[in-house]
Amino acid sequence: MAGFGHYTHAIVRGIPASLAKEALRSSQSEVDLAGARKEHEAYVQVLGTRLGLEVVELPADESLPDCVFVEDAVVVCGDTALITRPGAESRRKETEVMKAALKNLNLNIVEMTDENATLDGGDVLFTGQEFFVGLSKRTNQKGAEILADVFKDYAVSTVPVLQGLHLKSFCSMGGPGLILIGSSEHAQKTLKIMQQMSDHRYDKLTLPDDAAANCLYMNLPNKGHVLVHPTAEEYPESATVFDKLKDHMLIPVSNIEKTKVDGALTCCSVLITKRANI
Ligand code: GLY
Repeated sequence: MAGFGHYTHAIVRGIPASLAKEALRSSQSEVDLAGARKEHEAYVQVLGTRLGLEVVELPADESLPDCVFVEDAVVVCGDTALITRPGAESRRKETEVMKAALKNLNLNIVEMTDENATLDGGDVLFTGQEFFVGLSKRTNQKGAEILADVFKDYAVSTVPVLQGLHLKSFCSMGGPGLILIGSSEHAQKTLKIMQQMSDHRYDKLTLPDDAAANCLYMNLPNKGHVLVHPTAEEYPESATVFDKLKDHMLIPVSNIEKTKVDGALTCCSVLITKRANI
């Protein structure tokens, strides 16, 4: 699994004012727009200034209230980018600017055009060895089949998302072979299914809060293992679990406002490994 997490580029997008009132959400929480923008700015600075990734910043689009959640518009693995067909109709046009940005990075672009398919990147967990695709309110079997067809070098298994928005609303990778998972019954059930379906063995780190299990893992030159994770202010119990990762550079990033519209840390960037010759 050499190279897992060795990213060079990140794509992010600005927050439109329309996010505050019109972004899709599962609760009625009121979003502080200025606060959301400040948090997002800090997130982007971590990726660019602190971690040294080349950051491509796409402009916000007022007609696309959820456009900051770029992860859902594409799945990138190696040199290939699968432009998704997001499950929420209001989010479909988010893919247009994304496609142009990925073309500029010289990635091989494949588009999910089948009208029966839906897939959000938030439902796609790539472990470095295989893909798990969550079947959720946003992602269906046909979407998973198309992903499997595009990324033929890897096994692709589907798992149920029994609660919440996406698969990665309660899990993510914390390192090579290490799955971060929430402690809720439904998160643990999904993990069990992943373990049953896989030929690989994974370690797990269980977080008391499901939402805290959504982190960004990277393995970067001169930095080693890096975990960008939610703050102790948001999830005090889970923060003590992150502290056990002694080999990781731990970077807490606040995500209070975007969480109100179901946006987690991974949702806000697309991480890419670009080889020098492409
Ligand atoms: N607000 C994120 C989503 O529902 O897609």
